[in-house]
Amino acid sequence: MSLVIISPGRNPEPWINALKKSDPNLEIEVFPDVKNPEKIEFALLWQHPEGVLSEYPNLKLASSMGAGVDHILSDSTIAENLPIVRIVDDRLTWSMTNYVVMGVLNFHRQIQRYQADKKRKVWDMSNPEIPVSIGVMGTGALGFDVLEKLNFMGFPVFGLGFSEKSDFPFPYFSKEHMEEFLQKVNVIVCLLPLTPDTENILNLELFEKCNPGTYLINVARGRHLVEEDLPVAIEKAYLSGAFLDVYREEPLPGNHPFWENEAITMTPHIASVTNPDAAAPQVIENIRRIQCNEPLLNPVNRKRGY
Ligand code: GLV
Repeated sequence: MSLVIISPGRNPEPWINALKKSDPNLEIEVFPDVKNPEKIEFALLWQHPEGVLSEYPNLKLASSMGAGVDHILSDSTIAENLPIVRIVDDRLTWSMTNYVVMGVLNFHRQIQRYQADKKRKVWDMSNPEIPVSIGVMGTGALGFDVLEKLNFMGFPVFGLGFSEKSDFPFPYFSKEHMEEFLQKVNVIVCLLPLTPDTENILNLELFEKCNPGTYLINVARGRHLVEEDLPVAIEKAYLSGAFLDVYREEPLPGNHPFWENEAITMTPHIASVTNPDAAAPQVIENIRRIQCNEPLLNPVNRKRGY
């Protein structure tokens, strides 16, 4: 019985150390140098090559290394009955919320403007704060924490989700009420899971319905955004700018127009990277649970896509 780590381009060492700390007896192999494929019962995945799981005939459980599972579900060759779990972890949530708060404050306190003023030695004390009202698309563990903390900081917050919710502690809109949601806010934070329903949701048609000058923060997936629509929406002043951590192609190609766009602030998919020490215990716990036939932590509903 062993676990395979399949994460091309990501150093597996921190995960190996963290998993060993939680369970010193766990045998771990690292793709592509797997010596005993028939002994593999668990897989820890980050952007695995499509089809590769068929090399492990005794696989019982696949775990994402992160919060997202789109990279697993996009592999149509995965056995239909293979349980899939994802990471939900306080440390990951904390990093994500900190990042979003930074993006919101960056807009609210106009850091870009003052950086530009500094370059030109301009001292301009007018209108130091842009009033903000924040709409969070995606109200799962991550979205909820963002709503809660921004609300605590005194900002008006609104959530938008794909399911009906009662007893939600913040104003909540289901996707059918997208326009009303957009009218309430001037910052949009995308924290949706990537599913066929949410792919390309951030597009020109939606931006047109925003309050003029709305600020976009995308920390979910690149494929939520129709990238060619973003500079157009900024040009037309539907949006004042964007704070992006994710892109359709990563690393972002050198000739991508986003590099040159002053209104777009970018980071290289680092908003919230799973901390192996924090997340390994839940991977180990799920291995125990699947062996004992107990309900898994953070199971993925394949139909829903998250
Ligand atoms: C990061 O993108 C994650 O899915 O955890």
